[in-house]
Amino acid sequence: MNIAVIGGAGYIGSHAVKLLVERGHRVIAIDNLGMGHRAAVHPKAKLVVLDCANVARLAAVFMTEKIEAVMHFAASAYVDESVADPRKYYRNNVANTIGMLDAMHLAGIKKLVFSSTCATYGEPEKVPITEDMPQRPISPYGQSKLMVEHILLDVARAENLAFAAPRYFNVAGAALDGTIGEDHRPETHLLPIVLQVAMGRRPSMEIFGTDYPTPDGTCVRDYIHVWDLAEAHLVLLENLQPGRGLFYNLGVGRGYSVREVIDACRAVTGKDIATRQVARRPGDPPALFASPEGMARDFHWKAKITDLHVIVESAWRWFQAHPNGYQ
Ligand code: UFG
Repeated sequence: MNIAVIGGAGYIGSHAVKLLVERGHRVIAIDNLGMGHRAAVHPKAKLVVLDCANVARLAAVFMTEKIEAVMHFAASAYVDESVADPRKYYRNNVANTIGMLDAMHLAGIKKLVFSSTCATYGEPEKVPITEDMPQRPISPYGQSKLMVEHILLDVARAENLAFAAPRYFNVAGAALDGTIGEDHRPETHLLPIVLQVAMGRRPSMEIFGTDYPTPDGTCVRDYIHVWDLAEAHLVLLENLQPGRGLFYNLGVGRGYSVREVIDACRAVTGKDIATRQVARRPGDPPALFASPEGMARDFHWKAKITDLHVIVESAWRWFQAHPNGYQ
């Protein structure tokens, strides 16, 4: 297929581009390079530097490149920032996605995979989280993604759009061949921060909260390898149904605590990682992990890289080979 990957130079988007290229698809990566990196785009994909807010140009690219399906990864994704600057999140994540849908409509494209998030569930009453549990986001970021899920359902019914909105848990790791990885600026995610301490780029790291009602007092999250996540997108693309939306959790189905992640990093790197225990970070639910049963039941798909050490090893290989990220 001819597939447009919007946000194809970002962390998750660039892994999706690589996977699609390796599985034989023709890929056009579209990215404004605001957060993404030119070097992250697979050499066999074509990179179009374009802000997806430019609906007319986006539609022209879709038509010129004879795009048949779109994967839309471009978004603002810092929970804290979304609380401080909600207009940015509703503009980038909601308004620009509507513009992207306009461009798809102009070009007659009927297939879409859109990045959603476990943040749409807010603070769930129980874990593991299944797709039918109530969605009550507690941040503008989560709200913006839930709004798009609703918009997509309406558009699907009205225009026979076929879409999937996978809800990501904590995406981590780097391509197993070491070619691409994670380079966020600023970095806020746990695993890269711990590895930056291991590399000596930070003196220590902060553990946000040690008094949670979890086995060791720190937050529990479901870490899914970015390559598994990318593969799940392709599975969903291959199973789209006209006029319908597919909603699936993308996680491993097992939670690891912050301390377990740090211990795995110590084991993999052989470094003594200095930590400081500080207060809870506002808005962090104690434990979030997915039920991965939906993808297993309907598509016989499960994440393959389920060992946290393997996830950490892939990220560590990337960080050691690219101490300055893509710079
Ligand atoms: N953490 C620390 N110290 C740090 C960074 C993180 O203790 O320096 C902890 C956090 O408190 C949390 C865990 O490590 O308990 C994971 O934090 P991340 O920031 O890596 O990830 P989140 O679970 O906060 O975020 C993820 C996704 C978001 C999504 C959110 C929904 O990355 O996109 O889940 O809760 F919105």
